[in-house]
Amino acid sequence: MFASLKSIGAYIPSKKLTNSDLEKMVDTSDEWIVQRTGIKSRYLARDDEYTSDMAYEAAKVAIDRAGISRDEVDAIICATITPDYFCMPSTACVVADKLGIKGAMAFDISAACSGFVYALNIAKSMIESGMRKHVLIIGAEKMSSIVDYNDRTTCVLFGDGAGAAIIGATDDKSRSILDVKSSSDGEYQDFLVTEACGSRNPCSKDVLKNGLQYLKMKGNETFKLAVNTLTQDVFEILKNNDIKSEDIDWFVPHQANYRIISAVAKKLGMSEDRVVLTVEKYGNTSAASIPMALNNWYEDGKIKNGDLLLLDTFGGGLTWGSALLYFNGD
Ligand code: UT7
Repeated sequence: MFASLKSIGAYIPSKKLTNSDLEKMVDTSDEWIVQRTGIKSRYLARDDEYTSDMAYEAAKVAIDRAGISRDEVDAIICATITPDYFCMPSTACVVADKLGIKGAMAFDISAACSGFVYALNIAKSMIESGMRKHVLIIGAEKMSSIVDYNDRTTCVLFGDGAGAAIIGATDDKSRSILDVKSSSDGEYQDFLVTEACGSRNPCSKDVLKNGLQYLKMKGNETFKLAVNTLTQDVFEILKNNDIKSEDIDWFVPHQANYRIISAVAKKLGMSEDRVVLTVEKYGNTSAASIPMALNNWYEDGKIKNGDLLLLDTFGGGLTWGSALLYFNGD
């Protein structure tokens, strides 16, 4: 028995934030943002719209497209660094309640932008071991809740949204998830960090006054590490599975920066017409980035049943990961 990606769904919030909007908020320019990142717009959730709301919308679509009932979902994994609640309940439990699912195992994972690939890895193991039958995996983020809109080095990069997928079983290896790699190196924990409100800096007036609740990033250092690590990672997963880059139908990278994507794709020998690119319109949506990108290409009729996908991601922790899988949705 193999695990397979049976469906994909996503939710994009309605409030569009363009580069020209940001020009009015901080000292930046459309030219700088486009040249350095490839981003032209991003979408933000309403004040009264939370990570679980976006996750719920994406999950509904993924469950419907998988052709299963909600009762058949027996595990829910939500990858997020912007949960509804700081400690508990998990966003996965809140989503389960919204979906009317009772009794399923439900938990969040924190692996920043690599969260969806990490969740895929866990779901694959659950299915292959026979532990669960249908695992709902979600990447959902309200990045606008941890972004400082006075900090031009981060606020131009991030957007909100959610993506979800159903992982189930198949006997057909040519429709399965072949391999998932998930890795980390805590030595670089200070490259992407929200300094509060954890046990190290519990929430206080001082914390809020000093803006320690916001995301901070050493962008340039992260950029350099990302390109080298991702290139090595994708080469390794291809080699381990005896697959050549020309066999890949779609390269689906984390949508952080067009320059990172293009550098890795070039090293892989991938022409741009086989690269899934949504960074221009959604910006960086962290754990939601890969499933939102997959969904966009699926809804445009580009990704089809049987297509071989190479996922690849990098984020805070530091964490990174890649996956080789056939799309098994209708
Ligand atoms: O998703 C998780 C993983 N994250 C990533 O993979 C992100 C990786 N990093 C990046 O994508 C890029 O490093 C950034 C897009 C964040 C920054 O691009 P960069 O080419 O590395 O720029 P930089 O940080 O080296 O900054 C260059 C200059 C600086 O000015 P000086 O010191 O040269 O005078 C910055 O202050 O650009 C300035 N700058 C800006 N200027 C206009 C930084 N942000 C902005 C801005 N608008 N928004």
